[in-house]
Amino acid sequence: MDEIKIKEKVRKYYAQIAKKQRSCCSISCRQNPVDREKGYEKLGYAEEELKSLPEDVFSLGCGKVELVSIKEGGTVLDLGSGSGFDCFLASKRVGEDGKIIGVDMAPEMINRAREAARKGNYKNMDFILGDIEKLPVADNSVDVVISNCVINLSPNKKRVFDEAFRVIKSCGRLMISDIVLLSELPKVIRESELAYVGCISGAALKEEYLEMIKSSGFKDIEVVEEIQFSINSLVDELYVKEYEGSTVSIKIYGIKP
Ligand SMILES: C[S@@+](CC[C@H](N)C(=O)[O-])C[C@H]1O[C@@H](n2cnc3c(N)ncnc32)[C@H](O)[C@@H]1O
Repeated sequence: MDEIKIKEKVRKYYAQIAKKQRSCCSISCRQNPVDREKGYEKLGYAEEELKSLPEDVFSLGCGKVELVSIKEGGTVLDLGSGSGFDCFLASKRVGEDGKIIGVDMAPEMINRAREAARKGNYKNMDFILGDIEKLPVADNSVDVVISNCVINLSPNKKRVFDEAFRVIKSCGRLMISDIVLLSELPKVIRESELAYVGCISGAALKEEYLEMIKSSGFKDIEVVEEIQFSINSLVDELYVKEYEGSTVSIKIYGIKP
């Protein structure tokens, strides 16, 4: 499938989720929906943090994006912001003088996030329709780029990291959570559309992923967490016998020198 067709499938899939308001994180979770708060705590979010979120906002993330180093007055950009889950959490940290920008290519997701910001009277947020491979954001204008379970969906991940590097200010940070592979997936999963839109078969091998971040110019790249990411429901559905748990969710930090 060519890049344009892949993106269209991804866009349609997440547009539908935005309309249905599913509140879930992983592919297995999407198929066996769990209670909202319990699902998010599993991802690592504290109960206290979750209380501040607007009701209509939901996470499709695969881990927790660490927000602690986000400073008051800073500008944060979320790549593939969805309904704005991490944006709303970051919004509290940057305060009224800071700014949160969410970019997503599904208009339905952007509308949901804008509506939640409007209802909650959040003044420091801007949700922009766009492609993370060609960010509608100025050079050297952002302190922190965050992203949760999105870059695996991009057919051109190197371009995403190049774009992140372009928009981050000197000494700014990249803080992402994403799915990567420890070994190649079986053919039946690699060729499954469901596995692609479900954040599995578009994932890169971990070493290649880290190399792309490095070659975009980031320094001090660190994998601060790596946890097994279960795709058992998909494995059952596709009758894959040889799958050996090679998908992991990792949390990575990098700095623009
Ligand atoms: C798995 S969801 C994660 C959403 C959000 N980060 C969260 O944690 O809830 C992936 C999101 O990335 C968006 N997306 C995928 N590829 C994209 C691209 N190339 N440009 C912009 N958004 C993209 C989808 O529309 C979807 O909203």
